[in-house]
Amino acid sequence: MIGTANAKINIYLEILGKDRSGFHQLETVFQAIDLNDQLHIEEKLSPGISMSCSDPQLSCDSDNLCLRAAAAYESALGHNLNLHIHLDKHIPMGGGLGGGSSNAACVLRLLQERHEHALDPQTLHTIAAELGSDVPFFLYEGTAWATGRGTELEPMPNLPRTALTILRPECSCPTPRIFSELTDKERGPRTALGKEVLSTRINNNLATSFFNRLSPAACRLFPPLKELLAALEHTGLPHLMSGSGSCCFVLGHIEAPIANVSAWHCYTA
Ligand code: C5P
Repeated sequence: MIGTANAKINIYLEILGKDRSGFHQLETVFQAIDLNDQLHIEEKLSPGISMSCSDPQLSCDSDNLCLRAAAAYESALGHNLNLHIHLDKHIPMGGGLGGGSSNAACVLRLLQERHEHALDPQTLHTIAAELGSDVPFFLYEGTAWATGRGTELEPMPNLPRTALTILRPECSCPTPRIFSELTDKERGPRTALGKEVLSTRINNNLATSFFNRLSPAACRLFPPLKELLAALEHTGLPHLMSGSGSCCFVLGHIEAPIANVSAWHCYTA
């Protein structure tokens, strides 16, 4: 079984408040992009689920989201799976592009296909949400409006194919650290704009919908990100930080505006 795991960007990300579980309530618009990893899953004779990865920096121990996704699927299915998962990694890690979450969702999709959709869609969604807040989006991809932890999704009309540049400064932003850096004012509470308002904004002029409440907090913690966003401001091109950072995206294909920034050209998917 071979699968493609696309990355995502958040075109819009607002914090609505913090719930009792410690998670933040969000309103966000996810967009899949064609910057992707490839997954190969093979059934093997030896027992258990194992994993390898093209990038030696990624640990393939039981904490890896691919292995956690396969184990969760196995447990819901109710019988043992003997699998080897190989991950060809291209999506920058720790960059707010949802690479690990996308890999996990890709494992779930491939296993669901292999087992003739043995689990009902709601069970699959619940497994995905338990693996991480961004994982359910990658079961559907395209363009989606999300609330709650980011797991309650509604599809939005797909964006026309749009050229983007993903830029990564020399830092990665751990998601919990960015959320805990939020000031009381940044944390809300506030009400959601709603899917219709955001759809209209996106349709009228995509760039006018660009917003990320986490961006100031990430800039306070990571000077290379702050420097990149300042350089992008200078270019006048529409841009935004994705998720909890540190990757940023720009409309159109450009070169990195400052030194020590990596760039990837891609399209909305
Ligand atoms: O769900 P995920 O594994 O992506 O979350 C990582 C961490 O990010 C959480 O443990 C939490 O600290 C923070 N987070 C949050 N509110 C969200 C999503 C993530 O506070 N909606």
